[in-house]
Amino acid sequence: MAEMTVFDGLATGYDLGMLPLELAVLRGLRRRAFPFVAGRVLELGVGTGVNLPLYGSQATVVALELSGSMLQQARHRSTRAVVEPLQADAQRLPFAGGSFDAVTGSLLFCSVADPARSLAEVRRVLRPGGRLVLVEHTRGDGVGGWLTDVFHPAWYALNGACHLNRQTARVVQEAGFRLLQVESRMMGIFRLIAGEKDGG
Ligand SMILES: C[S@@+](CC[C@H](N)C(=O)[O-])C[C@H]1O[C@@H](n2cnc3c(N)ncnc32)[C@H](O)[C@@H]1O
Repeated sequence: MAEMTVFDGLATGYDLGMLPLELAVLRGLRRRAFPFVAGRVLELGVGTGVNLPLYGSQATVVALELSGSMLQQARHRSTRAVVEPLQADAQRLPFAGGSFDAVTGSLLFCSVADPARSLAEVRRVLRPGGRLVLVEHTRGDGVGGWLTDVFHPAWYALNGACHLNRQTARVVQEAGFRLLQVESRMMGIFRLIAGEKDGG
């Protein structure tokens, strides 16, 4: 039996709880990031499937998620893409090298235990020239950096999974991706991050 995660307990109320942030910032970033992704796509940490309606019919999406309860919510999303749900760990991807045209994710690398390990796996399963497209909350810039550092310990103590102050764009670059785009919102606390695997 799969291990329970903190997100199993949050699955039914997740979308409602996220609504204020969705309206304030996330919906806009998601719409800038995901409709342009095509081909064979791996979405990591698909959660309740909030990005699935944004993909076009030209995408086949493996919707990977650790939490069975979150994945159960995602199964009910309507989308034009072909979706293959899969319960698995983003740090151990059960695919051959070069299997995907693109890997996507949102609000994932704040809670993956070992982002560098997961990104090494992402790099392995992407084809040469394949794209990584993320919408993440991260350590902010300036006052945003101060705020995310100050609130991180209490936030993490409360939920035991989500880091407020990870520098995900930097970790993506350190994992060997060429950064194509980093768009920041709300003092850099939210970012669209796009990278490319070399060799395309
Ligand atoms: C904050 S939620 C974001 C869900 C969704 N992507 C969104 O944008 O609303 C983080 C999700 O990542 C999943 N997750 C965390 N670590 C994971 C891992 N190692 N492998 C797969 N999924 C993971 C959690 O179960 C959870 O559903």
